[in-house]
Amino acid sequence: MAFPQTRLRRLRKTDIIRSMVRETVVSIDDLIMPLFVCPGTNVRNPIKSMPGNAQLSVDLLVEECKKLVALGIKSVLLFGIPESKDETGLIACAHDGIVQQAVRAIKSEIDDILIVVDVCNCEYTTHGHCGTVINGDVDNDLTLETLAKQSISLAEAGADIIAPSDMMDGRIGKIREALDKNGFHNTPIMAYSAKYASGFYGPFREAAESAPKFGNRSTYQMDPANSNEALREIEQDLIEGADLVMVKPALSYLDVIRRVKDTFNIPIVAYNVSGEFAMVKAAASNGWIDEERVIKEILTSIKRAGADIIITYHAPQMAEILKKEQQLKGI
Ligand code: PBG
Repeated sequence: MAFPQTRLRRLRKTDIIRSMVRETVVSIDDLIMPLFVCPGTNVRNPIKSMPGNAQLSVDLLVEECKKLVALGIKSVLLFGIPESKDETGLIACAHDGIVQQAVRAIKSEIDDILIVVDVCNCEYTTHGHCGTVINGDVDNDLTLETLAKQSISLAEAGADIIAPSDMMDGRIGKIREALDKNGFHNTPIMAYSAKYASGFYGPFREAAESAPKFGNRSTYQMDPANSNEALREIEQDLIEGADLVMVKPALSYLDVIRRVKDTFNIPIVAYNVSGEFAMVKAAASNGWIDEERVIKEILTSIKRAGADIIITYHAPQMAEILKKEQQLKGI
């Protein structure tokens, strides 16, 4: 049937009818908030390029988690800024490493929270690369050893989900095997499977003090031009035992999210990264966009593309937006 019998505007007439036919809804349950933990007490180092975010010492981090839980956000993703760095990032495997301390502190004070931990070497190596460097490049198989150690140490501290973001080949299998051997067969792995060598990580590298001191990450992270390859990455990670797979960044890769959704039957995580967040903040602070409206539109588009879970620095603000909407509806 064509116009005039068909009039698509009929289903847009009122708020009630629009919400009835709405296809995509972002829920607070879908959101994970990334946090940065640093040494010291009562330390809050604001991250300039990510307004509202800061490096927090463990005590303030626990307070921040309590605030998030009160807002309804029950999952956090932790990144560590260690006291000192070394050549291979072994410091990330220490029993009392910065993230290990943070996990224990959060777990001892908050019952109902899910802690995802980023597993990677770049915050812990002197050169800022995501693994052990041999002859100017990251050595894949040597790096697997440190990643496995770091994962066990974090699982022992009480982390709920292990999320390797290094992009080494074979890391999921290696970490799965190490976790299982140490009694953590019930600890899920969230694989940063299709992680692109992206310019959108700029603000994060300020936040985590993890920028590479030489070269770039193009020999391990993916070429932004490729999407067939993303499917191969995900296929490998699933074979090796990934429980959740991730596409990162989100906004320039919505097509990749959709392809993954159409190809595999697995929960998909999208990482709405630091540069994507910073662009919204910069435009909003200039009065160029309606911030709340844009945040909601961005997160909705990521879900519409096929993501089930979204890691986003907008999480607390989105929680406020959702709360306001519910109050308006009288819920
Ligand atoms: C560590 C890591 C990075 C991000 C998450 N884990 C940075 C990188 O790969 O350089 C980026 C997150 C963001 O930009 O918000 N490998």
